[in-house]
Amino acid sequence: MGHYDEYKRRVLRITQRLSADGYFGSKSGSAGNVSMLVEDEDAVVITPTHLQYSLMTIEDICVVDFDLARIEGERKPSIETPMHVATYKIRADVSAVIHTHQMAASALSVLNQPIPPLFDEVTLAIGKSVEVVPYALSGTRELHDNVARKLANRCHCYIIQNHGALCIGTDLDETFTLVELLEKSATIYMQALATGKPVTVLPEKTVAQLHSAVIARQDREIARKQAHHVARMKVAPEAEPSH
Ligand code: 13P
Repeated sequence: MGHYDEYKRRVLRITQRLSADGYFGSKSGSAGNVSMLVEDEDAVVITPTHLQYSLMTIEDICVVDFDLARIEGERKPSIETPMHVATYKIRADVSAVIHTHQMAASALSVLNQPIPPLFDEVTLAIGKSVEVVPYALSGTRELHDNVARKLANRCHCYIIQNHGALCIGTDLDETFTLVELLEKSATIYMQALATGKPVTVLPEKTVAQLHSAVIARQDREIARKQAHHVARMKVAPEAEPSH
């Protein structure tokens, strides 16, 4: 089994599940991408560009380094690879990135409408809000710069204006759940706005408490990664052949 095969298998499984559940906008197209960061390596396992998800196999999944150079895979990686890599570079807590064209979040993306904190379990998972990343053409440096500027808010979901959504998390399965929670929030927010009645949001104090819990969880994950890295560095010299 290859060094990256387990990562590739997980990326493929979640990608095909997202596609089957309709989170890529169409079931037959290629509109969205999924990646994982390899633990203790500046390497990203990511879906290839422009390939129907149901036809994708383990061999199609790509591995690139932080300079976007190919480590493994015959296919060209997703055009949004720079956006995924920028996310891993900026957010040390993040190890999985999912870009979707999911319906309700995409509806809010054409209204340029952020989602306020509406439910406590969603806010505890996503953070204090879902902000809108300003529009730029798919796959461009401008788009990944716009995304990079938003990541400092330490939230886990973003709407990309006139495009779709971005969900980022510590683990791929957890990030899949973020996609679902984002869609729930976006759907209910759209329906509530459509009534024309005022929408109530969570009290400020509650939002502050929940967002602090999100930050604390991220800090624990960053500390875990650092401790793992230090432990690995200590073990490594013993593995060196003695002269
Ligand atoms: P890829 O097929 O290159 O991943 O691009 C799809 C997409 O969603 C562009 O934003």
